[in-house]
Amino acid sequence: MSDQHPMLFQPFRLRGLTLRNRVVVSPMAQYSAEDGAATDWHFAHFARFAVGGAGLVFSEAVKVERRGLGTVGDMGLWDDAQIAPLRRITDFLRRHGAASGIQLNHAGRKAGTARPWEGFGPLDRAVPIEGRAHWQVVGPSAISHAPGYPVPHALSTNEVVEQVNAWAQAARRAVAAGFDVLEIHGAHGYLVHQFLSPEANRREDRYGGSLANRMRFALEITEAVRAIWPADRPVFFRISAVDDRGWTMADSIVLARELKACGVDVIDCSSGGIAPGSPTASRTGLQLGYQVPYAAELRRESALASMAVGLIVGAAQAEAILQGGSADLVAIGREMLRDPFWAAHAAEELGADPGFALLPPQYGWWLERRRRSGYPVSPPS
Ligand SMILES: Cc1cc2nc3c(=O)[nH]c(=O)nc-3n(C[C@H](O)[C@H](O)[C@H](O)COP(=O)(O)O)c2cc1C
Repeated sequence: MSDQHPMLFQPFRLRGLTLRNRVVVSPMAQYSAEDGAATDWHFAHFARFAVGGAGLVFSEAVKVERRGLGTVGDMGLWDDAQIAPLRRITDFLRRHGAASGIQLNHAGRKAGTARPWEGFGPLDRAVPIEGRAHWQVVGPSAISHAPGYPVPHALSTNEVVEQVNAWAQAARRAVAAGFDVLEIHGAHGYLVHQFLSPEANRREDRYGGSLANRMRFALEITEAVRAIWPADRPVFFRISAVDDRGWTMADSIVLARELKACGVDVIDCSSGGIAPGSPTASRTGLQLGYQVPYAAELRRESALASMAVGLIVGAAQAEAILQGGSADLVAIGREMLRDPFWAAHAAEELGADPGFALLPPQYGWWLERRRRSGYPVSPPS
């Protein structure tokens, strides 16, 4: 335990928003929405991370239109009726000191799959899904994600323009839902990434061909979202920095610089997803912080703030990433599922919160009282 002031627990300012610390809950789909709307499950899921001390809590990938649903349980924001349950969540997060982030997405040609624990593969489109109609699968070109996946309808140029508008409308609803941060999901082989990819995008109009043309969809979405998103609130962009299928770090650097010019504040650095089996992790194996070098390089080359993600599990590990200048924020995914109080526990470990002030008084007051009576801050190991 140290009494230095760890960077992990120093506030971070982005435009008009000050995060109480640098711990971010990474977007994680719960497959538990009903007709796109958040349920009590989501409320309980997000609430725990705010109570547990995180600085910024991201929603899962929320779909901008029904055709963008990966699974039938994905969250959506294509209808004003989907705003209210999200508002309840963002209000709770704010009351407990955590900023709220929404990740907007469209699954594109990867739409129409089963939940992971129900097989994850493409749905049998001959059978209604949980009593609901299937949805059309769309993409930049009529090329399926993998054998067995549907061949997507290739969006016409006009339909691409309509897509950009769908993202803008979802951003408008996200403002009404009270989110502090908006992230564009441009990674993991979903629609935005599909447009970037020379493998998935074989278009011959202004949205395909050269790198500038393949980036056009991502940049038009970013501009449209930024025009609606309040100027005092930050926009993040999640990128697959490399995808092993033709998208390279050199491309990512070009895109990141363009995104900065469009008003993006943070580049969230992931990888892979355009084709099955392509994630970088499959090459490097289960290596702690396997994507941190992408955050470091894009931070250096684009002058954007960066967020690192991917097997960041320990307090000292997260602190070293920040101290080393690789990233400004660390996003924690699966380890947050194991321990939703990860931030509070990391603060204990780093000596950043000796009085349990990061916890709400309903919990923290009692733990501080117990500590004063002589019990150690953390249980003896
Ligand atoms: C259950 C689950 C759902 C996920 N859903 C999303 C998602 O909606 N959007 C996204 O960008 N990444 C998603 N991811 C990826 C995570 O955000 C994160 O990048 C990945 O799990 C690596 O970080 P970790 O090792 O800390 O878990 C998901 C991961 C998990 C485990």
